[in-house]
Parts: sequence; structure tokens; C-alpha cells
Amino acid sequence: MTEETVGKPVLCVGCTVIDFVTITSSYPKEDTDRRCLDGFWQRGGNASNVSTVLGVLGSKVDFFGMLSRSDAFRVLLEDLRRRNIGTSHCPQTDKDPPFSSVILAQDSGTRTIIHCNKNYPQVTWEDFKKIDLTRYGWVHFEARNVAETSRMMQSIVEHNRNSGERIIISLDFETLYEQNLKLCYPCDYVVFSKELASQKGWKSPKDTCEFLAANLSLQGTLKPPVIICPWGSAGAVCLDASGNYHELPPYKPKQVVDTLGAGDSFMAGFIYGTHVHKWDLAEAVDFANRVASHKINKFGYDHIGELRLA
Ligand SMILES: *[C@@H]1O[C@H](CO)[C@@H](O)[C@H](O)[C@H]1NC(C)=O
Ligand SMILES: *[C@@H]1O[C@H](CO)[C@@H](O)[C@H](O)[C@H]1NC(C)=O
Ligand SMILES: *[C@@H]1O[C@H](CO)[C@@H](O)[C@H](O)[C@H]1NC(C)=O
Repeated sequence: MTEETVGKPVLCVGCTVIDFVTITSSYPKEDTDRRCLDGFWQRGGNASNVSTVLGVLGSKVDFFGMLSRSDAFRVLLEDLRRRNIGTSHCPQTDKDPPFSSVILAQDSGTRTIIHCNKNYPQVTWEDFKKIDLTRYGWVHFEARNVAETSRMMQSIVEHNRNSGERIIISLDFETLYEQNLKLCYPCDYVVFSKELASQKGWKSPKDTCEFLAANLSLQGTLKPPVIICPWGSAGAVCLDASGNYHELPPYKPKQVVDTLGAGDSFMAGFIYGTHVHKWDLAEAVDFANRVASHKINKFGYDHIGELRLA
């Protein structure tokens, strides 16, 4: 694709962590000592994964999050560099990076994850406001750190008001409904998780879109965001600001090998379809389903490049 068609880069705001993945034949018994079948370290974190998949699909992408100067973090920096994911705006800390211990048990197919973030600092609006926003066409956020994230979004809203060019805002909304709800208002797209829907007692994806839309309009947003709701193996649905609702059926993975990061792959597929190809909402969500399902066929993300469209 030419520079023109790829469009301006996407900026992904959030966390990057080290994942220590251990693959075992079965889940270990407590207080035993055993060997794993396989294991590796890799870069994780939702926004960090979304950056990876966007890059693999051929989109230009920068990551914005707190980087660590610790030696252990070098693995992550190397990986970001190798993948051409820009990090020039990221502030740095001397603190050790956050990490997650992941156990994948082969017999049951379960994934057990323990997060350890030891009050690792997060990026602030002070850091964000140094960024030249005119470079970007889309900014993607994780729903966290509400006070700072709101101010970052507000800077984009102001940028959009004062300049001819519009930056699209998207949000990955997976936790803490009441606290994070206000982050939806400035957004163009909100991807709402099935897990959070079930915490709210919302049973179907359609209910989820409608209840979330109702909660948002109760608070008087000018233009409500498009709501997208991936629903695991049932595919995904979306509801736009004019009330048009679509259900997009799932793609069945050929084999279930690695589901880690399938949600982040969905997110990246959606951004790619909308931002790079300018597909309409239903087409972009359908492609997101395809990317998420394709991800599951193999470990990691590189094979997603097979879905890249010239
Ligand atoms: C991100 O990707 C890595 C590598 O595939 C994976 O281990 C991790 O679980 C994914 N998700 C998150 C939230 O880190
Ligand atoms: C990151 O993604 C995982 C899996 O999709 C999810 O469980 C977790 O809540 C997400 N984290 C945030 C901060 O949204
Ligand atoms: C969302 O809407 C439900 C009813 O539709 C209401 O009970 C609830 O208080 C609302 N929550 C918020 C945070 O506005």
C-alpha cells in the first residue's frame, strides 16, 4: 500500500508487561516440583499487543506507555524496535517492569494468569501533552487511570475542534464499569468486553449494547460512541449512534492453539479495517472476528500477517 492509503499512524496508549509463559501437560499440584513442556518470555499488555497486531497487519503504529530502564525490560524494547513500533514519546522509570506469570495447561486448555505490577507508574496527561497530535489519525486507549486518561482524551477533543483534521478515539473497556464509564463519552468507538457484561448481569450482546447505550445517553452525550461487543465464540455485535445494530457471526478457528491476545487481535483488526481500509462498521467488525479467530490457530501474532490486504 502507498503512504496515502495506509493513512496516519495509530497511537496505542496503555501498558506493556513481561509475560512468563509456562506450558504444562496438566495444571500443577500445589507444593510439587516438576518440569514444563515448553516456556517463553514475551511482551504483553493490552495496548502493547494491539500495537503488535496493527504492525503485523501493515499499519503504522506507535506505542505510548511507561518504559522501564531495568535490564529485564530490554527484551521488550528489543521486540518493540524489531517490530518498528515507535516509542519516542514514552517516559521512562527506574522501577522494575510489571510482569505476569501465565500457566497454560494442555489437558484442560486452561490459562491461569497472575499479574504483578507493584505500583508501576502509569503515563500521565503531562507526558501525553508533549506529543504532537497532528502526526496521528487514531488514538486507542485502555480503560484505566480515569483521571489522566480523561484529560488525554480531552486534549484530542480540543485538537479536533481547533484543527481541520479529526483524530479518531477508541477505547478498550474491560474492567471497573462505574469508574471507567465516563471514558466512553469522548470516544468514537468503544469495545466492551463480554466479561464486563456478565459482571453487570447483561446476558446477551444485544442487551449489552442497549444497556450501555442507555447509560451513556442518560448522561447526555452529544454523539454517543459506536459500541462493539465481541462475544467469544458467538462472534461480535455492534450498535452505531443512529441505532443500527448488526450481528457478525464468528469464524471458526481451524485449531485452538493459543487464545492469549485474541481480544487484542480483534481490537487491532477493527482499527485496521476502519482506519486503513475505511470499511463500514459491519465490515470492519467482521474482519476483526476473522483476525481474532486466525490468531488462535498458532502461537504469537506473526501469522496474522497472512490476512494483510495489499
Ligand atoms: C498479549 O500478548 C501476549 C503474547 O501473546 C500474551 O502473553 C498476553 O496474554 C496478551 N494479553 C495481555 C493482556 O497481555
Ligand atoms: C486486558 O485484556 C485481558 C484479556 O482480554 C483482560 O482480562 C484485562 O482486563 C484487560 N486489561 C485492561 C486494563 O483492560
Ligand atoms: C445504567 O442504567 C441502569 C438502568 O438502565 C441504571 O440502573 C444504572 O444506575 C445506570 N448506571 C450508570 C452508571 O449510569
